[in-house]
Parts: sequence; structure tokens; C-alpha cells
Amino acid sequence: MQQSQTDFRDPSCAEPVGFAGRDTAGHLLQRLEQHGFVVAAIDDPGPPDAQMVALSAALGLGDPYIPALYRHAETVNYSASYSHILSNPHDQHPGFSTTAGQDWHVDGLLDEIGTIKTTVLYCVRAAQRGGETLLFNSVVAFAELREQDPAAAEALLSPDALTRSSTIPAIDLSATGPVFSVDPGGNYITRYTDNDTCTWNFSAGPAGALRRALDFLRVAADNPRYQRAVLLRAGQALIFRNDRLSHGRRSYEDSPDARRHLIRVLYANAPV
Ligand SMILES: [Fe+2]
Repeated sequence: MQQSQTDFRDPSCAEPVGFAGRDTAGHLLQRLEQHGFVVAAIDDPGPPDAQMVALSAALGLGDPYIPALYRHAETVNYSASYSHILSNPHDQHPGFSTTAGQDWHVDGLLDEIGTIKTTVLYCVRAAQRGGETLLFNSVVAFAELREQDPAAAEALLSPDALTRSSTIPAIDLSATGPVFSVDPGGNYITRYTDNDTCTWNFSAGPAGALRRALDFLRVAADNPRYQRAVLLRAGQALIFRNDRLSHGRRSYEDSPDARRHLIRVLYANAPV
């Protein structure tokens, strides 16, 4: 996997790549393979939905994927293919509707590891201040841990290492699984999340191993070799491998008459 060679300190990894239809997809795919993410600067000033359709067609992403969490009667309000992420004091979604920062996670709280392979965040309007998306090259940090402390890495592969539970009020749903796994192609995939949805099973693996693993990943997530902040401008889309990177968000401030506005689309397919 080329992503194992990348160093997020390289400023070129977050430089926007122009997107003007299917003929320009090759450069995006190359960056996605190399770094696990790419920022696409979309040339067409058309409506965001049409741009997302063009982007998904060019990258072979197929139809948007609705996460398992949003296929319940109580969460149907969040089940749109295109989720509009805007601060909204009348909404109780812990991620979409606040201006607060978000800790490390992968999208798809209830979905099995590796199910949601691609996330696209399209920026309609940037925040007045802040709101950077943070990316953590968690699969490569995991590979490093496996070299240094195989027992700690083993604990993260345990099928009952991590339970994630919904924090949407009055919705009691959770899913248990490994933190990392290996996909059919032999590449590591991740479900590494470190936020208030997590319950860690410290009895997974050898005694003390999961604690050491978690300590390692928390340090690695602050290492600039593995962590990158991306600030999107209007008309740019961040495309990233949700099965190979963990992500978060810095808090932001809105201007009163122009809220930060992102559109999030998830896909079960990897870009091809
Ligand atoms: Fe997310």
C-alpha cells in the first residue's frame, strides 16, 4: 500500500488538485492511493449535488451509502444521501449540528470495519474561523506499533476490542469489533476512534496490551508525520479513505448570516 510511505509533513499532500470531469480523475486517484486523501478543486461552478454526482462517477464510487445508524425510525432525519452539515441549535446530532471540535473517529459507528471506504466532504461555505478537518494516518501508525510491540497490536485486532455506542439522545445502539483488521487485498483497515462513543475492552489480548496500544496511538495521532489538518475553501471537496484514515475536526466560529456549510457523502466503494 503506497499510503504506508507517505509523510503528512509534506505540504504537497494537501495541495488541491483540479477536477473537471472524468478525464481529470487519474490525478485524484493517484493522490488517494498515495496519501489516503485528496483535495479536489472543482472547476464547474454548478450546484453541489451535480458536482458530487460527477465526482462519484469519475471515481467509480457508485451510489451513496446510508450508514446502519441512520436506517432506524428514530434517526431517519439523518438518512439523506447528502448530509448537510451546518450548526443548528434546534438539532441534537452531536457531530453535524454543533460548531465544536470532533475527536478521532471513522464514519459508520454501527457498520462493520471497512464497510464505508470513502467519505467526501464538499465545502459550500467555509467557517469564519477554524473548522479544519483533521486526518490521522492510523493504519500506518498501527503498522509501526505492530513492529514495536506485537502484543499491543494484537489486542487492537481482537474482535471485541472496541464497542462504539451512539450518542444521539434517546438512541441506544452500539456495535463491537476490532480496531484494525486486514482486508481481502492484505491491507490494513481501521475503525480507530477515540471519542465519547467508545468503550474499550481492556481484557482483549494479553494483560496491559490494549492500554499500551491506546497510549501509542494517542501519541502517534499528534505526530505531524501522521496528522494533517485540511482547511477547505468553497468549491473544494476533501475525498478520503474512511477505511484507511481516522478523522476529526477543529472547532469553528460562524458568522451570524453565513454558517459554515459542508455536504457529506459516504460510499461503500473505494475509488477506482
Ligand atoms: Fe466524520
